[in-house]
Amino acid sequence: MQTITVQLEAVFRKAISKAFGVQADPLIAQAVNEKFGDYQSNAAMGLAKQLATKTGQKTNPRSVAEKITENLELGDIASEISIAGPGFINVRLSGDWLRKQLASIGGDPRLGIETTANPRQVVVDYSGPNVAKEMHVGHIRSTLIGDALARTIEFQGNPVIRQNHLGDWGTQFGMLIAYLDSPDRKTPVDYEVHIYDTLGVNKSENTGTSPQTQVHISDLEEFYRAAKVEFDKVPPFADRAREIVVALQAGDADIVAKWNMIVEASRQHFQPLYLRMGINLSRADERGESFYNPFLAEVVNELKQNRVAVESQGAVVVWVEGFESPLIIQKSGGGFGYPTTDLAAIRFRVQQLGARRIIYVTDARQIQHFKQVFFTARKANWVKDVDLEHVTFGSILGEDGTPFKTRTGGTVKLKDLLDEAHQRAFTLVTEKNPELPESQRQDIARAVGIGGIKYFDLARDRTGDYVFSWEKMLAMDGNTAPYLQYAYARIRSIFRKAGLPRGNHEQIQLQTSHELTLAKHILRLGEVIEVVGRELKPHHLCNYLYELATNFSGFYENCPVLQSPEPTRSSRLGLCEVTARTMAVGLDLLGIEHPEQM
Ligand code: ARG
Repeated sequence: MQTITVQLEAVFRKAISKAFGVQADPLIAQAVNEKFGDYQSNAAMGLAKQLATKTGQKTNPRSVAEKITENLELGDIASEISIAGPGFINVRLSGDWLRKQLASIGGDPRLGIETTANPRQVVVDYSGPNVAKEMHVGHIRSTLIGDALARTIEFQGNPVIRQNHLGDWGTQFGMLIAYLDSPDRKTPVDYEVHIYDTLGVNKSENTGTSPQTQVHISDLEEFYRAAKVEFDKVPPFADRAREIVVALQAGDADIVAKWNMIVEASRQHFQPLYLRMGINLSRADERGESFYNPFLAEVVNELKQNRVAVESQGAVVVWVEGFESPLIIQKSGGGFGYPTTDLAAIRFRVQQLGARRIIYVTDARQIQHFKQVFFTARKANWVKDVDLEHVTFGSILGEDGTPFKTRTGGTVKLKDLLDEAHQRAFTLVTEKNPELPESQRQDIARAVGIGGIKYFDLARDRTGDYVFSWEKMLAMDGNTAPYLQYAYARIRSIFRKAGLPRGNHEQIQLQTSHELTLAKHILRLGEVIEVVGRELKPHHLCNYLYELATNFSGFYENCPVLQSPEPTRSSRLGLCEVTARTMAVGLDLLGIEHPEQM
């Protein structure tokens, strides 16, 4: 089914053309006030102006609206058309038409939402943790937002390539390897990496040869800190670290092997976290900075040849309009940095992956970086017909309004956060449902705990900061994951009580205003998905789902389902079914689980 907006657009476009012989955007929008209707066309005002300039005569927008209305061929879509204010045309959808729409979409797993007529190859670049650093809350937003966007854009019918642009290259590896290899280290380093199971539990504790005397590189973050201190204060150490970087870049087998093991240790750290959070990122999606190393010199050369880049004080730079300092693509010592890597990545994504839309999800501190990188790529002519979009987000704050920290002031580790969420949710579930078997309570706790964290992040406009609050994210009331999950489970429990596997959408009759409101809302999912795909803001979908749950509550509190006589009972069960499926599709797009029972 085409979205209601698209269907109305077609009818209005035709009416405008018939009435005035012009093509104009009917400017269809959801009605501001439900009192007047469900959708409105705001075209009459602009059209009146346009006609006035054309004919040289003053034209009254209200009469334009009237003339459009006379030419509308709405068939059975509308039960009422009215003109309000200066010339807004309001349309109220008819119950019968709504019923038919529900009957036609109810059997479709996609709920009648069509795939796009113009699919584009999309690359979504998200998560991008840095090797040798623990994944902390700062990475969580990129991971969650990027994942929800990738799912949504894919659902729209676009092929999506996920790219995890790991920070796996650079001078820090020189320090780290030099540190791990120091001959005067009291404890030899065991380069063997830990084996983690899928929940991030270290399973290799007992398999190491002699754990007391060996240090595992899974403590990378700590080593990195220590290495940095030594680097800054011991010149021979710093020299050694630099030599190692050169050797790494030259492909020295021994150094590359050590680097590989460090990257692997990091991977063993973040991969289980993705799995646990239901993030669709696997090894196959990794293309870290190191991948682009072989292309960097070429990229700089090309930019020099194109005259996009120029030499300046021994470095190679790109001057970007509106910026005081240039983008440095090759340092005076010959080294390349983060910007060059991103330029190589754009080129690769367009030329090798066929990208037509590239979406980068990082915090707002990288706005300048991406502006300069995008400018350079455009000027180099690498991105004709390619949209480059930087999706930014604010910070997560503690209750005191400063950046989120542990009680002792340290950075909050993602793993600890997930553990605590699960634990808290388990307590809640146990209070509510002590009789459920423990394994089932654990499953629900995972869904609610992880879902709670994810949803709390996704549900607000990403451009703002937000205050992290366990109480709020796990609340059973309000715009939270548990509330939506509970709404879903409650519908499923109606069917369990009725002894039916599901309801039949073909039997839906829309009688009360509660049923009509719910039906109209269900039919808007496709429009909301379009907004998310365009604006790249998942909170629109969250708000939609929250409203779906509240509309369902309104219906359920006012319209008896199982107690009603037939055919009302079956009709309402059908409506319950389509509501549950709409909720499930929406939560799936956000990557949030929806247990059948809570
Ligand atoms: N590793 C980077 C960071 O932690 C994020 C990578 C973002 N993607 C990119 N193509 N630059 O800030």
